[in-house]
Amino acid sequence: MHTRDLFSLEGKIALVTGGAGLYGKPICRALAEAGAMVVIASRDLVACRRLAEEFQEDKYHAMAVRLDLGDEDSIRTCVEEIMRNYGRIDILVNNAVTRQGMGDLDTVTKAGWEEALRINSTGMMLVTQAVVPHMLAAGKGNIINIGSIQGTTGPRFPVYEGTEMSSPLNYTCDKWAMVGFTRWIANKYGTRGIRCNCISPGGYGPGVEDRIGENAFTENYRKLTPLGRFAQDDDIKGPVVFLASEASAYVTGHNLLVDGGWTSW
Ligand SMILES: NC(=O)c1ccc[n+]([C@@H]2O[C@H](COP(=O)([O-])OP(=O)(O)OC[C@H]3O[C@@H](n4cnc5c(N)ncnc54)[C@H](OP(=O)(O)O)[C@@H]3O)[C@@H](O)[C@H]2O)c1
Repeated sequence: MHTRDLFSLEGKIALVTGGAGLYGKPICRALAEAGAMVVIASRDLVACRRLAEEFQEDKYHAMAVRLDLGDEDSIRTCVEEIMRNYGRIDILVNNAVTRQGMGDLDTVTKAGWEEALRINSTGMMLVTQAVVPHMLAAGKGNIINIGSIQGTTGPRFPVYEGTEMSSPLNYTCDKWAMVGFTRWIANKYGTRGIRCNCISPGGYGPGVEDRIGENAFTENYRKLTPLGRFAQDDDIKGPVVFLASEASAYVTGHNLLVDGGWTSW
């Protein structure tokens, strides 16, 4: 196959959970620009529709569907709507995250812990459970889980010194679980045409720097990142298209670090 065709997603149907969020937007745009029909899904249907319209104005294919990962009916309805419209789901990107209920060991509550798990782990499992039978029926499918550097190493707490910031215990645990989930799905369904990989990105610049401005954390973070900067939109686009396309046909169960070298020390 020509290299250009290896990276093409022409005609593919892609569901992205949390698609209108910070990392969700460049992920959805990357898939759309590579030719996929992108279904942008989360609780805020207005935000998802706004993004879908933005893509449509640029002549890409996109639609918005409401999805609440904490509600099994909503997950089923979302998947049914896509199947009704397009008859298949080729790519699932588990990107949504809740940070509700998160805290350090001394502040997190049982209810908070369970709430984060309910969306980040159980919700991810349920939407994957709803999509995989359709992929199995088609004999092919591609799942990408968006993890984090915090699910690949432990948090480096000195980076937060001089600020009120921390890295919650739940986040590290939920993100590590994602890597195990990735490997399980990859190992179980590989011979039936389904690949499953994880992308573990580092801090997203437009989110972090625009939200908190300059402080000791942003300065420390850049110093501890071999490439000396936070991630930008284009940094996630290539890895997503690579893993979603035939360009990575022999790659499964992998955790691709897109972190400017944060974990290479
Ligand atoms: N930002 C970073 O620096 C960073 C770094 C490393 C990894 N990541 C990872 O990148 C992914 C995206 O993070 P982000 O920073 O882009 O987060 P974000 O901007 O907070 O977006 C999270 C998305 O998840 C959706 N969501 C939350 N609860 C949901 C639910 N119950 N059902 C369905 N959707 C739900 C939200 O939409 P609604 O509110 O409309 O539901 C939103 O679109 C996450 O997996 C995160 O761990 C982020």
